[in-house]
Amino acid sequence: MVDVILGLQWGDEGKGKIVDYFAPGYDVIARFQGGPNAGHTLYVDGKKVVLHQIPSGIFHEGKTNLIGNGVVLDPVTLKRECEVVASMGVDYKKSLYISERAHLILPTHRALDKASEVAKGNEKIGSTLKGIGPAYMDKTGRNGLRVGDLLDKTFTSQYIKLRLKHQRLLDNYNFQEDISLWEDDFFEAIEELRSFKIVNGEYFINDKIQQGKKVLAEGAQGSMLDVDFGTFPFVTSSSTISAGVCTGLGIAPQKIKEVFGVSKAYCTRVGSGPFPTELNDEMGELIRKTGSEFGATTGRPRRCGWIDLVALQFACMINGVTQIIMTKTDILDALPELKVCNGYSINGEEKSYVPFQMSKVQIDPIHTSFEGWQTDITKIDNYDNLPLKMKEYIGYINNFLKIPVKYISNGPGRDQIILA
Ligand code: GDP
Ligand code: IMO
Ligand code: MG
Repeated sequence: MVDVILGLQWGDEGKGKIVDYFAPGYDVIARFQGGPNAGHTLYVDGKKVVLHQIPSGIFHEGKTNLIGNGVVLDPVTLKRECEVVASMGVDYKKSLYISERAHLILPTHRALDKASEVAKGNEKIGSTLKGIGPAYMDKTGRNGLRVGDLLDKTFTSQYIKLRLKHQRLLDNYNFQEDISLWEDDFFEAIEELRSFKIVNGEYFINDKIQQGKKVLAEGAQGSMLDVDFGTFPFVTSSSTISAGVCTGLGIAPQKIKEVFGVSKAYCTRVGSGPFPTELNDEMGELIRKTGSEFGATTGRPRRCGWIDLVALQFACMINGVTQIIMTKTDILDALPELKVCNGYSINGEEKSYVPFQMSKVQIDPIHTSFEGWQTDITKIDNYDNLPLKMKEYIGYINNFLKIPVKYISNGPGRDQIILA
């Protein structure tokens, strides 16, 4: 059977920590989409690690980690990351597998990402500049190179052909930067990649399922960044939702059991695009400071706001969420008052759905207020001991979404999680 952990907001919900927490109960941990735009933070023996390409189960002995076909892979990032985990005692050559169908991110994809963002000016997406959009464009445009192509004699000539194509696009953008240094790193990393366990991911994972092994699919980004259902065009280029597990790993839908949706107790977004509950005031600033809300991949300050139940309900619907995991609840510890958005006012009318074009209409969030619990909860380890006011806050969210909040995360550490 396959369970899924994915983000319900605009990314950075704490998926990495949660996958690391759940990993001991699974045999295989697999990434199914996204690429090094992801930044998943874990604390291993008190040491902070940020993973971009490697699944967050890598620190657990005896587990298999798979980079699925739906992922776009930057060999340079992967190489660097492998060095970090190796320095922490992980034998990644033993436990990490890569699907031969995963598409490669080339240096020119990164250049094209940058050129495209510059050309968009004020309308830029706020991309992580990791080459994600251009790499997925080459996948759907049927031009891309895949990990399996590395093992082919013609790889270099295929690379040169695609690079020339990209160069013409870059010339159109008048892109001037020298990317030859990036290419040196790329070819060094490609050489290294050839020595990895490159497998047919779909047979690999279905064989495991057949043997009764338990698979945990790890989402990247969040549902509101999904290419179909997110706040288009301010989205990423992959299917971040549970449906992406099927295409991103080669797993049939009936195999998926639990869908764990991860949401912060408030809301953040990094990059451009609509964010109805954003707080452009001291409260937003306070949440950013208390929650250290700065991007794990780019270091950019994250935009902060109250939890948005309209968007969360939408995300639960498209994902078929069975359990909610609420993270960063401790960040609200000191606040005297909390707000929850339970409706949108659009042109003076109250709405309870996510509109087609969130950026073209003025959305005013409708809030309900709660008294804050004003208690340090970071050391609490069971539900009964949580403050009553916190239980009321979570209970309201529970009732609204009609999906149980089963886990409450009250700190970044591995053991800071409470079963509700
Ligand atoms: P991801 O991309 O969804 O894996 O999330 P990130 O790693 O980008 O951002 C989440 C941040 O919150 C990281 O710095 C985590 O260490 C931290 N974090 C996760 N859960 C909690 C929590 O319950 N409380 C606090 N204080 N920090 C948390
Ligand atoms: P994790 O997995 C938060 C955002 C970018 C930008 C938009 C498109 O750590 O939750 P892209 O580089 O994908 O073309 O950027 O998506 N974005 C993320 N925001 N967390 C992420 O990943 C993100 N990955 C992409 O900021 O707005
Ligand atoms: Mg992140």
